Amino acid sequence: MKIIGTGSAHPSFTLTNDMLASFLETSDEWITSRTGIKQRQVITDEELKDLAADAAKRALQNAGLSPRDIDFIICSNVVNEYATPSLACLVHEALDASCPSVDINAACTGFIYALQIAEAYQKAGMAKNILIVCAEEPTRMVDWNDRRTCVLFGDGAGAVVVTEGDNLKAIKTTNTSLTEVLVEKRVLEPTPFIKKEEVNKPLFMSGQEVFKNAVSSAARDIKEVVAKAGLQIADIDLFLLHQANMRIVEFVAHMLGEDKLKFPHNVENYGNTSSASIPMLLDELNAQGKLKNGQKLVLSAFGAGFTTGACVLEWATDKN
Ligand code: ACO
Repeated sequence: MKIIGTGSAHPSFTLTNDMLASFLETSDEWITSRTGIKQRQVITDEELKDLAADAAKRALQNAGLSPRDIDFIICSNVVNEYATPSLACLVHEALDASCPSVDINAACTGFIYALQIAEAYQKAGMAKNILIVCAEEPTRMVDWNDRRTCVLFGDGAGAVVVTEGDNLKAIKTTNTSLTEVLVEKRVLEPTPFIKKEEVNKPLFMSGQEVFKNAVSSAARDIKEVVAKAGLQIADIDLFLLHQANMRIVEFVAHMLGEDKLKFPHNVENYGNTSSASIPMLLDELNAQGKLKNGQKLVLSAFGAGFTTGACVLEWATDKN
């Protein structure tokens, strides 16, 4: 498999740390020093399906393909306004595509899971060109009175188009049953048969538990996929980590003994956008011309579940 197009889309409203400090007991100093985040883009009047479709259109344009060239659409999403149809169906409609489409939810690891599923579809001969769209609105999952969580997140969409190729050198995904450290529980429609009391529980995160699991799993996964690809850590040109927290990125760089300059980041501008974060960063680097033919990239993510995943990709600039 290889990536031949990238795209992204963001809500128009920018929420800075200082703006947060105007209604929460927090400060730019606290947020910046603990997370590296300075601002985030937050959904207001937009709908996530439109951001997802915009990111998809840009990725298709970048790949030089039309929607009818796509054989399969995978959308990675934790939550959006539609319980059904799937976000993938809504993107399909906006594109006027003609292929099967499905949503997956592996929390912030969704992009790595989607790449693995896409590769399996290609290997099974079921699809050649696959559109992966990761679109997330975690700002609709948090309690905006809870300074421990709401300052961390932002909304956005990132997309890639993949085709057949020999550029995915190694990939792995994992899941450990650790569901209580990062969890949001919603109340569904009432029925005459439900008698127990039900309450919405906005996103809860055990920050320090998540931090520990994130750094140890990312370092472990990266070492494994790099070895599986027959490479050394030093052979990797860029490490694109899930953009959750700058301190996690720096810690992993330290654990791998690698220069921080090899770890591009944009968490300072977007906050944690869950599974959209890696494709959004990939698109930013691609648009800036920072990805060169033959460069070896590691992608690594972790999220609720506790899910993790990583892969080694060789960047290709030819689209065929
Ligand atoms: N502003 C000011 N003070 C705050 C804020 C805030 N926004 N949030 C918490 N505090 C306070 C707490 O109330 C606490 O005060 P207390 O000592 O009086 O009780 C104090 O700061 C320390 O709180 P901790 O939770 O211990 O702070 P910590 O240093 O662990 O930092 C953080 C919290 C940033 C969340 C950290 O644990 C972390 O980075 N965890 C990883 C989180 C993450 O990246 N999650 C996403 C990964 S998975 C995914 O993407 C879904």
